[in-house]
Amino acid sequence: MPASIISKDKDSIRLRIDGYPLSAVNALRRYAMSEVPVLAVDDVVIIENSSLMYDESLANRLGQVPLRTPRKYLDAGEGQVMLVLDAYAEGGTRTVYSSELIAVEDKEVKPVSGEIPILRLTKGQNIKLEAYARLGKGKEHSKFSPTSKSVVKPTPLVVIKNKNPKNAKAIVSSCPRNVFAIEGGELVVKDQYSCTFCMECLKVSGDIEIKETPGSYILDIESIGQLDPDVIALKSAEILLRDLDEFNKAVDEL
Ligand code: F3S
Repeated sequence: MPASIISKDKDSIRLRIDGYPLSAVNALRRYAMSEVPVLAVDDVVIIENSSLMYDESLANRLGQVPLRTPRKYLDAGEGQVMLVLDAYAEGGTRTVYSSELIAVEDKEVKPVSGEIPILRLTKGQNIKLEAYARLGKGKEHSKFSPTSKSVVKPTPLVVIKNKNPKNAKAIVSSCPRNVFAIEGGELVVKDQYSCTFCMECLKVSGDIEIKETPGSYILDIESIGQLDPDVIALKSAEILLRDLDEFNKAVDEL
């Protein structure tokens, strides 16, 4: 199988891709960062602002609050959502958090975390605004990027030449990624995909070999939270294929 899921949780996905050149896997990595669109606040109408924060700074902070982006906006390829923020410091100084940024119509659109501080208000101060989020891409501005990490490495091949080396414990503890373990008294490779080729284990033992699997790569994608990591990977491939298709058509028409 050319691509298989090694691991996946709510924030990240690790894929093994075989049989494609590095340039193709790298294109997928770059598309995940810069071509898969998400919603972010891009226009703010300040109705009232008696805080110490300038309107421009407030709008900039709102743009950097990651918003959960329902799949329907990706499928449509466009979308605009209005959110409101209406906060008042009645009893004394307080922090306004992202949980107070509320979508007017589509309740599925909301900050990825409600605990992002936006600004502080002292007693009697208030802010009232409308924030308009639109679909955008990371290549336009990093606030539209859905990934906090998107990296490619060759698929590691960790070989233990002697399963009972004298310094097995030292080998286990030399690896910062916990690739090795001792099971039933023998040194074993527990998680070779986590190897980062740092070569630390080779400094303590000549019984280990670290190689690259020919024609095989690991793609690690970590989501900021606007989209699920598997959706980012799938959309990345879909958009890349669409662009290649358009490129082919353009070349054919020359
Ligand atoms: Fe671990 Fe580095 Fe060796 S990640 S397996 S110590 S090359």
